[in-house]
Amino acid sequence: MKVNNSTDFNIKNVGEVVTLYGWVAKKRNLGGLIFIDLRDRSGIIQLVVKPDNKYYDLAESLKNEYVIKVVGEITERESKNKNLLTGDIEVIINELEILNTSIDLPFNLNDTTALEDTRLKYRYLDLRRSELKEKLEARHKITFAIREYLNKQNFLEIETPILCKSTPEGARDYLVPSRIFNGKFYALPQSPQIFKQLLMVGGMERYFQIAKCFRDEDLRADRQPEFTQVDMEMSFVTEDDVMNLTEGLIAYIFKQVKNIDLKLPLKRMKYDDAIEYYGSDKPDLRFDMKINDITDIFKNTEFSIFKDVINNKGIINCLVVKNSADKFSRKDIDKLTDFVKTYKAKGLSYLKIDIEISGSIAKVITEEELNNLKSKLNLENNDLVLIVSDKKSIVKQALGALRLNLGKKLNLISDNYELLWVVDFPSFEYSEEENRYVACHHPFTAPKDSDVDKLLNDKANCYSKAYDIVINGYEAGGGSIRIHNQDVQKKMFEALELTEEQIKEKFGFFVEALKYGTPPHGGLALGLDRLVMLLTNTENIRDVIAFPKTASANDLMSECPNVVDEKQLKELGIKIDKNC
Ligand code: AMO
Repeated sequence: MKVNNSTDFNIKNVGEVVTLYGWVAKKRNLGGLIFIDLRDRSGIIQLVVKPDNKYYDLAESLKNEYVIKVVGEITERESKNKNLLTGDIEVIINELEILNTSIDLPFNLNDTTALEDTRLKYRYLDLRRSELKEKLEARHKITFAIREYLNKQNFLEIETPILCKSTPEGARDYLVPSRIFNGKFYALPQSPQIFKQLLMVGGMERYFQIAKCFRDEDLRADRQPEFTQVDMEMSFVTEDDVMNLTEGLIAYIFKQVKNIDLKLPLKRMKYDDAIEYYGSDKPDLRFDMKINDITDIFKNTEFSIFKDVINNKGIINCLVVKNSADKFSRKDIDKLTDFVKTYKAKGLSYLKIDIEISGSIAKVITEEELNNLKSKLNLENNDLVLIVSDKKSIVKQALGALRLNLGKKLNLISDNYELLWVVDFPSFEYSEEENRYVACHHPFTAPKDSDVDKLLNDKANCYSKAYDIVINGYEAGGGSIRIHNQDVQKKMFEALELTEEQIKEKFGFFVEALKYGTPPHGGLALGLDRLVMLLTNTENIRDVIAFPKTASANDLMSECPNVVDEKQLKELGIKIDKNC
């Protein structure tokens, strides 16, 4: 059995004879001496084989990634390597055994430019790189800290089913056909939402689970089809209780994993303000630059674009890029214009402030408008004003995205972690695609007490007891106080335009459960993968998952999804329509 990690040893161990196991990371022959970098999970240690050693020829035959066992004596190194934990020492080999050989690797482990697809196909090799190993170590530390903290807070870790009932709302389900009930399907859980609420009905009071969730949705850099939530639910709590507990947990993780002391309580921002000033419900507060509403300034404008927007009840908003007008050429502005167009904005107007102003609207802005703009926005020479005018949703989204783009481009983003709660979400958002209101969080989210009557009568102004925790512009988690009253729950389903039949068929069991003394309850789920990403400074979710899927939900290593045998399909009563 392997007992030693290579990095257990340092200068204090000189003279000791040790047994080490690992992989040959590098071998070189310098003037007859063979130097081997032995790599194990903990790191690298240098081995030395002298020409008179009886294992010299065997050592000479070693190739990269051979697996070896060595026994040797620790000595002090002549030329020390400050970059290695074991850089002060080396091991003079007494015994060497090859435990296994390796064929040439499809990519060099040190080559960070190797194609990601190749590295995903050979993920087990990529995992040998220290960067990935460190991320998985951090992930372990984080889950360990979570279990420690929640255990101390009297939570029970309870598993919920993976084969579930498909329920509407949210993302598309992954479906699993039933063999026994031909033509019927299980769905993989998008989250354990209904089960954790039923655990509260079942009197568990404080539940958590590190839960696998599955969503068949368009993937992005921070989304996987199969991801992990730190799922929590509590009975007899208010919004503040859930937020305080979550803050405590996050602070504990930051301390354990990064030795960072977070300042609690965290900031809170109303959803409406987040949209107003940052154009996003997950504002990145690591840099300033708010969105400014300048519609009023142009209320009497003759400039047709602005005039039309105002007549159509749209808005005119802008970002101010301080002291940077000289950094943006015409071409740069064109690029930014193309960028905002991807968010459906029709264009980007701009002004460069100087003794003589310039920019696309320099000729149409009146003296009065310019003066008002200068005083409202405290404009100074060399400021750049970037303006989008359109209906509110487009303006906010386009400028929110442009703000992030500029933050990166101009290096405005600080190295600090910026955490906040976004609170007071609306219950519904209007889906242009579906032409109806859909749940902003999910259909179990309680409306504010004062807004219960708005569920059916004034959806646009109905606000909920939901909260999201945002870290560095990522939605790291979200939750809410739930509806525990069956009449309100029914109203909510009705508000989402589910028919009586659909409610009965899809959620009947749940509405029934609410009738049996359901305690008031609420909870939250953190995106574990995103939390690990944030704590390990990567923007790619695949970096923190041992065996991730590609952006098209493929596993390149095992080549999944793949076809199955005719026999398997037959058992399930399934025929593949190749024209589909
Ligand atoms: P929600 O859908 O907001 O809430 O999910 C909670 C958190 O999970 C993470 N997340 C994802 N991470 C990676 N890939 C994905 N595809 C993905 N989707 C979501 C995010 C998100 O904040 N049941 C509710 C929670 C509750 O109300 O208690 C839920 O699932 O970080």
